[in-house]
Amino acid sequence: MVRERWSSWTGFILASIGSAVGIGNIWRFPYIVGQNGGGAFLIPYLISVFLFALPLMMLELAIGRHLQTSVGPAFRAIGERFFPVGILIVAIISLILSYYLVITSWVFAYTLFFALNRPVEFEAFTNSYYPLIFFLLTGLVVYATVRSGVREGIERLSRYLIPVLVAILLILAAYALTGSGALAGIAFYLTPDTSRLSDPLVWAAAFGQAFFSLSVGMGILITYGSYLGRTNIFRSASVIAVADILIALLAGLIIFPLVFSFGLDPAAGVNLAFVALPSVFGSVPFGAVLGLLFFTMLFVAALTSAVSMLEVPVATIIDSYGYSRGRATRLVFCAVMLLGLPSALSYTALRLELFETPLLDLGDYAFGTLGLIVAGLLVSIVAGWFMNQDWIFDEIGGSERMQRVFRFLIRYAIPLVLSVTLLAQIVRSAG
Ligand code: PHE
Repeated sequence: MVRERWSSWTGFILASIGSAVGIGNIWRFPYIVGQNGGGAFLIPYLISVFLFALPLMMLELAIGRHLQTSVGPAFRAIGERFFPVGILIVAIISLILSYYLVITSWVFAYTLFFALNRPVEFEAFTNSYYPLIFFLLTGLVVYATVRSGVREGIERLSRYLIPVLVAILLILAAYALTGSGALAGIAFYLTPDTSRLSDPLVWAAAFGQAFFSLSVGMGILITYGSYLGRTNIFRSASVIAVADILIALLAGLIIFPLVFSFGLDPAAGVNLAFVALPSVFGSVPFGAVLGLLFFTMLFVAALTSAVSMLEVPVATIIDSYGYSRGRATRLVFCAVMLLGLPSALSYTALRLELFETPLLDLGDYAFGTLGLIVAGLLVSIVAGWFMNQDWIFDEIGGSERMQRVFRFLIRYAIPLVLSVTLLAQIVRSAG
């Protein structure tokens, strides 16, 4: 069978931006910046993106492009014994998807509630049957997209939705920046506190966020790269990275001005998005419209990321076992829904918890934080040390000197930085 291809470079770029831009940009990035030195945090963040995440993105794209196959078989092509490593990475991303889908489904529910002008309290929502219904619905939307194929499903979805996301982002930024708290918000967000730069945990936060936000080290770009014809890999990776950073920065210019205009706590995550902001949208003029715009934006961001995560196991099953796309997607969909069920139930009346932490948060920590770093480590070590480098450089091009720098980064710098980040995360959670 002929391998599917993106219809154009733009289609590929939009799909990759769709994967990168997610919940991580909109509620995680602003908060992490605010907490870790404001504007000064941009220094470690930009270093992490351009020095470490970008080369890894290029490496992944080169592997996929060159081998024309997805994660499992790509690792097998590097060496038979690496096949299980590939499968481990595929498992990690499936586990990330299982809880990411739960959050996506809440966002979906809130989008509809605002569209119908029927806001609900988060408590009341989670204690009803709605979370399970929406979990299933959202899963089906992601399933249907991936089932429709690379071009007809994934690429088409991003082509329509990414422009919508950017448009909403600009409208909300204009609104937020004209609010009464705009200056205080921007001051909290961006005033540089350079003293924080000597704290290694600030650097670890930057590395973790950069890898999460760019969806790098998870084989997504290996998979997306395998549907590419010949392209300029450096340019592609740079465009994706810059778009991701700009959207994250802009999200901060929405979140903090809103937070300060409305006297909320500058915090992140579930509470901000599902409790604090909706309560504001419920009480200001045009709040229902603002709420609808905000949740539509978040939903688009999350949906296109979830789709990219599902494509990884589906493609690996198609390429390794010769399943049809339909059969592979059905199989993975069922598995992911089952894996996600405990997370979906953890915020309902059942309150599934371990160590006094809801299972969803535990999953985010184990897979989305630690697992993601482990996967990035595995990709850089296997590719850096065990793969024939000649064809990588054939794909990437660049001068002899650039290639030496690239090789050094992949072999030494990235594994080192990721190991330190992993340790720092473990220490932080223990302390
Ligand atoms: N990059 C996405 C975000 O910012 C999350 C993601 C992580 C997507 C890993 C795919 C893989 O929300």
